[in-house]
Amino acid sequence: MTDERIDAGDGVVLRPFRIGDERSLVAHANDAEVARFLRDRFPHPYTDEDARAWVEFNRELRPTSNFAIAVGGEVIGGAGFVFGDDVHRFSAEVGYWLGRAHWGRGIATRSLRALTAYGFERHGMVRLFAGVFEGNEASARVLEKCGYTKEGVARRAAFKGGRFLDVWQFACVREDALRR
Ligand SMILES: CC(C)(COP(=O)(O)OP(=O)(O)OC[C@H]1O[C@@H](n2cnc3c(N)ncnc32)[C@H](O)[C@@H]1OP(=O)(O)O)[C@@H](O)C(=O)NCCC(=O)NCCS
Repeated sequence: MTDERIDAGDGVVLRPFRIGDERSLVAHANDAEVARFLRDRFPHPYTDEDARAWVEFNRELRPTSNFAIAVGGEVIGGAGFVFGDDVHRFSAEVGYWLGRAHWGRGIATRSLRALTAYGFERHGMVRLFAGVFEGNEASARVLEKCGYTKEGVARRAAFKGGRFLDVWQFACVREDALRR
């Protein structure tokens, strides 16, 4: 495990975005089924310009907080952290998405498990958390498989696609991770 590259096993690697990723990024990200469970800042439609701007933005960011999920050199998704500050500086939000063609093969689970270990070990985080829009059973399952616990429901916390949605709050604290 280095600062820049996380080996998630079985050929899945989390690494920084780089120039040349734009085409596969658009191919996998430009999908309403991917965007529907993500924040509106994940654009839909996802254009070439969105991909270019995302790669450019992340190229300069250190430490790397947004990773490409790559298999066989192709970017098939993304995963990353939003680090807290002030009294929340030992907490980080985790996020992830995967191109639909690759769903159902355990790749998100593999990626989140590796990202979680990296967050605790490399960044010294004590709490990692995620907010899942109501109905996103696949994501809830991924979090459970990676040792996250559903702590509660933030009722009507998100406004997405013209509707208010409950947000399921999941978290994993360092002690949970050490027990596994
Ligand atoms: C959520 C997402 C990342 C899952 O990726 P994935 O690689 O298919 O996930 P995995 O294969 O590792 O695991 C999925 C699990 O959910 C289960 N699952 C899938 N759809 C389900 C459903 N409708 N109801 C219940 N469980 C479901 C699978 O059976 C599997 O669990 P299992 O291993 O116990 O059988 C992917 O669907 C995605 O990118 N969605 C859009 C973006 C998103 O929702 N990101 C997360 C925001 S919080």
